Amino acid sequence: MIALGCDHGGYPLMQEVIAYLDQAGLAYENFGTYSTESCDYPIFAKRVAKAIQEGKCDKGILICGTGIGISITANKQKGIRAALCHDCFSAKATREHNDANVLAMGARVIGPGLAVEIVKTFLQTPFSGDERHVRRIGMIEEDE
Ligand code: RB5
Repeated sequence: MIALGCDHGGYPLMQEVIAYLDQAGLAYENFGTYSTESCDYPIFAKRVAKAIQEGKCDKGILICGTGIGISITANKQKGIRAALCHDCFSAKATREHNDANVLAMGARVIGPGLAVEIVKTFLQTPFSGDERHVRRIGMIEEDE
């Protein structure tokens, strides 16, 4: 199950992502926002993070205008590894190396064609499971 979240800036691109998920038959839960009315991106980043933390969803997709605010917020939530990706190379690498559980994108940065390719790449690429990557991911949340 994929958790979806966006703000007003990300709303138009999220509709394109939803159209792809529907066409591909992929299950998702949409945590809003549900219109282009101005709103606050942290609300939606935190809803998506909570769904992953509770195990209701295993991955998330977050979209705001730049992807920056929504990814910063997501990355402050325990257990969330959000990757801001605007190219397929990064989307593939972050799944293989970081086991990223959230993809963030900026609707004002890329177009829908590329965004959907990034979503496909992110969802289809498995974590490598390599020991060095497992070790590094474990270190992310370690206290100093
Ligand atoms: C909203 O105008 C915009 O600030 C937001 O979508 C995002 O880009 C923040 O990082």
